[in-house]
Amino acid sequence: MRPVKIAPSVLAADFAHLADDIARVEDHVDMLHVDVMDGHFVPNISLGFPVIKALRSVTELPFDCHFMTTNAGDYLEPLVEAGGNLITIHIEAYPDPRPVARQAEELGLEFGLVVSPDTPVSTIEPYLEMCDMVLVMSVYPGFGGQSFIPGVLGKVERLANVVDSAGLRADIEIDGGIGPETAAQAREAGANVFVAGTAIFRAADPVAAIREIRDATG
Ligand code: DX5
Ligand code: ZN
Repeated sequence: MRPVKIAPSVLAADFAHLADDIARVEDHVDMLHVDVMDGHFVPNISLGFPVIKALRSVTELPFDCHFMTTNAGDYLEPLVEAGGNLITIHIEAYPDPRPVARQAEELGLEFGLVVSPDTPVSTIEPYLEMCDMVLVMSVYPGFGGQSFIPGVLGKVERLANVVDSAGLRADIEIDGGIGPETAAQAREAGANVFVAGTAIFRAADPVAAIREIRDATG
């Protein structure tokens, strides 16, 4: 089984004290999940390159950058310059993601594809070989703090089967409404990267919250 990785989502951190919030969790997690939104692909605007660059100066954690934007592919170079390590782009915005995947590879940026809750995994299956990560959204993208949609677990299962049977390298990530209970369900279905915003950064004790997710998925 692919090893468990935990990726707290900075969207739920205190934007006035990002460095402090990250310092509290960084020894206990595997990467930082950074949600970039454009107010167009999704009805919200979050953060961009100046913030990513500032975060890069306070932590060495890999940055898993989830682009909820219509034109993510135009911004690979700025992302690398700002310190991003991995970009995931939505298949709904890039029905043929190959040119972006190739450019990411040239730039040494890890690459992944995302499916929103209503998008079937068949849309990304032709491109799995190009992926370091595949992300199954378990809420509609745009906002933190929503409830997990259990109906996506079947997609996780199908993806895990395809990735495993083809011997591919992609990690399988789940994002939205993740806490110990839903993480356990997603692990059971085959996910190994768990994004959690609210459950970690809004917890009274974020380190204990991370431990609970690890225990639930271990
Ligand atoms: C939603 C984002 C998520 C969000 C998850 O569009 O992609 O990464 O931060 O937040 P929680 O964990 O609060 O559901
Ligand atoms: Zn996200």
